[in-house]
Amino acid sequence: MEKILITGGAGFVGLAMARRLLDEGHQVDLLDNMARGQADQDLLALLAKPRARLIEADLTDPRAFLGLDKDYDLIFHLAAVIGVRNVMNHPDKVLYVNAISNLNLFEFAKGMPRLRRLVFSSTSEIYAGTLHHHGLPLPTPEDVPLALLDIQSPRTTYMLSKMYGESICFNYGRTHGIPFTILRFHNVYGPRMGFQHVVPEMFLKIARDSRVEVASPTHTRAMCYIDDAVDMSLRAARAQEAQGQVLNVGNPDQEVSILRLVETVAKVLGRDIETVPMPDTPGSPARRCPDISRIVALTGFRPRVDLEQGIRLTYDWYKHRLDKPHE
Ligand SMILES: NC(=O)c1ccc[n+]([C@@H]2O[C@H](COP(=O)([O-])OP(=O)(O)OC[C@H]3O[C@@H](n4cnc5c(N)ncnc54)[C@H](O)[C@@H]3O)[C@@H](O)[C@H]2O)c1
Repeated sequence: MEKILITGGAGFVGLAMARRLLDEGHQVDLLDNMARGQADQDLLALLAKPRARLIEADLTDPRAFLGLDKDYDLIFHLAAVIGVRNVMNHPDKVLYVNAISNLNLFEFAKGMPRLRRLVFSSTSEIYAGTLHHHGLPLPTPEDVPLALLDIQSPRTTYMLSKMYGESICFNYGRTHGIPFTILRFHNVYGPRMGFQHVVPEMFLKIARDSRVEVASPTHTRAMCYIDDAVDMSLRAARAQEAQGQVLNVGNPDQEVSILRLVETVAKVLGRDIETVPMPDTPGSPARRCPDISRIVALTGFRPRVDLEQGIRLTYDWYKHRLDKPHE
């Protein structure tokens, strides 16, 4: 049995990871400040399982760590302020919370005798500056040089906070002997991801109207179902050779246009729709697709869930909740 800490454990990715780890028989502590809202049925059901514990605490407060155990085998650091709305309206909070949380967590991880891996969750957004200024190879490998978008723009704060987090991994990791792996997540979707993403937005729109406006219809995204992202992450955390590595997590086999994504949602909902192409969203990359050959080589795992199957599984969760959309 492993003892595992998941920061941001009450969030979308964190809860899915916790569920899998508890099913495998491990002990899982979820640390979260509940910024996403009250405990919902999914979280309560998870906490009813043996060996699950919720620690309500804010990672920006060093006192949050005082009562924590020091004998974790694995730490998944998922807590962060994310999302376009936060980034545009509260860029100061994105910088503060993400930077201070990362520093505090690495301070906490110093000298932990049993710790085999601290997994840091980074993002595909980290490639946005390189794409804008220099262009990117697609699918994109991890070792392209990184660049920033406009330093004055609020949008830059999120990617900058993740670059800073990656730098902390390398430099605290090396200096203090903290074993780490950096995962750059690309377009992960699934149940309980909130309502601020294209998939649940389309569930809402298509359930209400047969005429659907589609912005950036030809832009493509590689859509990775949450179960595949969890599999890749857990395997990377345990793969000896993934120590000290940066790894893309995503599903290039399911790279689809936004139009095809919308049509797939309509198919799953059994609705005939008329799609109306709209202008491209400013700042939206025409194509985003990870090269995952490194993580596949290290873990032997390739994502399996195709888009239609993933949308079906996601809709099974959302269909009972469309009348009361929340964050
Ligand atoms: N979902 C994706 O497709 C995706 C893509 C790229 C990167 N990521 C990264 O993966 C991680 C998890 O993403 P998610 O989609 O599950 O996000 P999420 O918002 O659902 O979960 C983040 C959790 O962190 C918690 N949190 C925020 N600030 C905190 C603090 N100061 N102290 C303690 N807890 C705090 C929130 O309450 C929330 O439950 C994030 O770091 C995100 O940047 C996700």
